[in-house]
Amino acid sequence: MGNIVIVGSGHAGYQLAAALRHAGNDDAVFLVGDEPHLPYQRPPLSKDYLKTAMKPEDLRFWSEEQFAEKAIKRIAGVAVTAIDRAAGAVSLSNGHRLGFDRLVLATGTRNRVLPVPGGDRAGIYSLRTVDDAERIRAALENATSAVVIGGGFIGLEIAATIAERGVPVTVVEAAGRVMGRVVGEAVSRHHERVLGALGVGFRFHAKVAGILGPESLGSTGRVEAVLLGDGERLEADIVIVGIGVLPNQELAVASDLAAGDGILVDAGLATADPRIFAIGDVARHPSLYASAPVRIESVQNATDQARLVAARLAGKPAGAYGAVPWFWSHQGSLKLQIAGLGHEADETVLRGRPEDGAFSAFRFRAGRLVAVESVDRPTDHMAARRLLAGGTMLTPGQAADESFDLKALAMARPQTG
Ligand code: NAI
Repeated sequence: MGNIVIVGSGHAGYQLAAALRHAGNDDAVFLVGDEPHLPYQRPPLSKDYLKTAMKPEDLRFWSEEQFAEKAIKRIAGVAVTAIDRAAGAVSLSNGHRLGFDRLVLATGTRNRVLPVPGGDRAGIYSLRTVDDAERIRAALENATSAVVIGGGFIGLEIAATIAERGVPVTVVEAAGRVMGRVVGEAVSRHHERVLGALGVGFRFHAKVAGILGPESLGSTGRVEAVLLGDGERLEADIVIVGIGVLPNQELAVASDLAAGDGILVDAGLATADPRIFAIGDVARHPSLYASAPVRIESVQNATDQARLVAARLAGKPAGAYGAVPWFWSHQGSLKLQIAGLGHEADETVLRGRPEDGAFSAFRFRAGRLVAVESVDRPTDHMAARRLLAGGTMLTPGQAADESFDLKALAMARPQTG
């Protein structure tokens, strides 16, 4: 029996621990995480958690007893501070060392911070943990005006929630459209229209010059307004910052493992050291769905990568990582589902009409389907996942033709992903 040490107790770390036991592995498993809580689900934090009286325990995957039953040793509220590859051990922030035969880095990402004058005033929040969500929910109780900095998933999900409460909210976005990192223009514009009708204001190509309070640009006192680069002042008694993330790759870098916007792994999710793996948001891996290695920020990716490494560590044939990436986001009444990766697309066709409130954008690269972004069209999304997994040929003309039976084409092929 060996020691498997998992660094990070977020979605990927928890899933790996669970999947190891499910796959029949009986090594000693240590799940080390700097958060004090039992592992929990993050997706509701930017959605239902802010709107309802949900409690932290409602989000838990497993109870303390379940971890004990599965003989998974949790080391919570403790960070791994260094990897000693020569000795096969990690150092912990509580002063202990822990030996490993296999080490899995599931360290995730951290929120980017906004380095502007006044950026540390009271009333400015970012969302990552359940504790952050608690603070934001409490602050929203009394908010009378809000600014959200960043028009990505986090920013838009929270802005929709704020607007639904009848509180004026403006999204300040550095780029020219929302969610530019993950979707094409058609879906961005549709979301801007629908959220705009809900009461969300937008400022594009915007730069935040500072966060103002009682002492103007000083850094103490509560937030009163956000000052933009063009001099506009947006009143706000609460500011949410959601401007993207940075991978927690420092442990790998310090132990001479290659990284560059993510820890570099091979198709089997191993680093150059065959005892050390990286999974989830922090891993940059080769993908069947992109021309260069990618780092994917999604629950699906964390779960599927955890399962692949668990199978490998349980001695089962695992092959290369090839799961179809998929994502979802709920913003007010908008239900967005994305299959595949659209960042390299060179052609887009629409199936259905945005003005009818439900449509899909089919995105192609060099004539091949690479991603489908569906707004309230779950059957398109499910068909897209099968089409992408099977590598099935679909032409832009077929995708745009509503009389073409997409589902039949998708079902005709074996699903491999
Ligand atoms: P993001 O990368 O999706 O969006 C960040 C946005 O902020 C981009 O539109 C970017 O152009 C903008 N931005 C960057 N710097 C800026 C600046 N200085 N001023 C104004 N705008 C700026 O990241 P986000 O929304 O912060 O999400 C964080 C993480 O949480 C990601 O990993 C995301 O995938 C995950 N998440 C996923 C959800 C989902 O899958 N539904 C929901 C919520 C979060």
